[in-house]
Amino acid sequence: MRTPLIAANWKMNKLVDEAVATVSALKPLVAGAAKAEIVVCPTFTALYAVGKALAGSNVALGAQNCYVKESGAFTGEISPQMLKDTGCAWVIIGHSERRQIFKEADALLNEKLKYALSQGLKVMFCIGETLEERQGGIMNDVLSRQVNLGLAGLAESDFANVAVAYEPVWAIGTGVTASPEQAEEAHAFVRGLVEAQFGAGIAQALRIQYGGSVKPDNAAELIAKPNVDGFLVGGAALKADSFAGIVSAVQ
Ligand code: 13P
Repeated sequence: MRTPLIAANWKMNKLVDEAVATVSALKPLVAGAAKAEIVVCPTFTALYAVGKALAGSNVALGAQNCYVKESGAFTGEISPQMLKDTGCAWVIIGHSERRQIFKEADALLNEKLKYALSQGLKVMFCIGETLEERQGGIMNDVLSRQVNLGLAGLAESDFANVAVAYEPVWAIGTGVTASPEQAEEAHAFVRGLVEAQFGAGIAQALRIQYGGSVKPDNAAELIAKPNVDGFLVGGAALKADSFAGIVSAVQ
């Protein structure tokens, strides 16, 4: 049985005080949520303070990106070691906004994934097709490329610390959620890709989150699908009560 993984991706939102206030409100709302693992991923500047505010709670801290070196002349970048220093257990890698806006390619994302894992972070590794790719009939090719290149070279033992987040780009921030059937179809396809590359045991244990306009009122029907193992939530995770509503839909 895969424990659902419910993560908030706050993207480039919230100053430190607001971030701390949001998790302070969230903690009691989700304190009784025993059936899910919960992660909040604030922006870098709020990590340390949010980590302090989350100490002792059932909500873990995550970051939204990292680089592939420990330290050095990499202006503007941040290392897994620095993230761990703030209290992070998790990092998101390969979000479509990193792929599209910041031109991060499969090879770099694979390097980031492997380096973050080697430094003891857990990773939510994002994949997903654009609307053009879906309508052009190449969705499965895109997902295959992202999975096969993205996860290449992982050891069996790495998979205990990896989740894959399927986030169709057309569903992110648009209010258009993938239907439960569309999500299930993509998740089953992705699980099959992982099985082909790494075997059935790893594929069956791997958590595949869905992301893209998840809200309290659509979370229950999505999580009911057998291959949907949690969520990566943007907009609806910015408010404590709506993120808690998503967590409670999974209980
Ligand atoms: P929304 O929930 O705002 O659609 O964002 C999804 C997402 O990109 C999470 O990483």
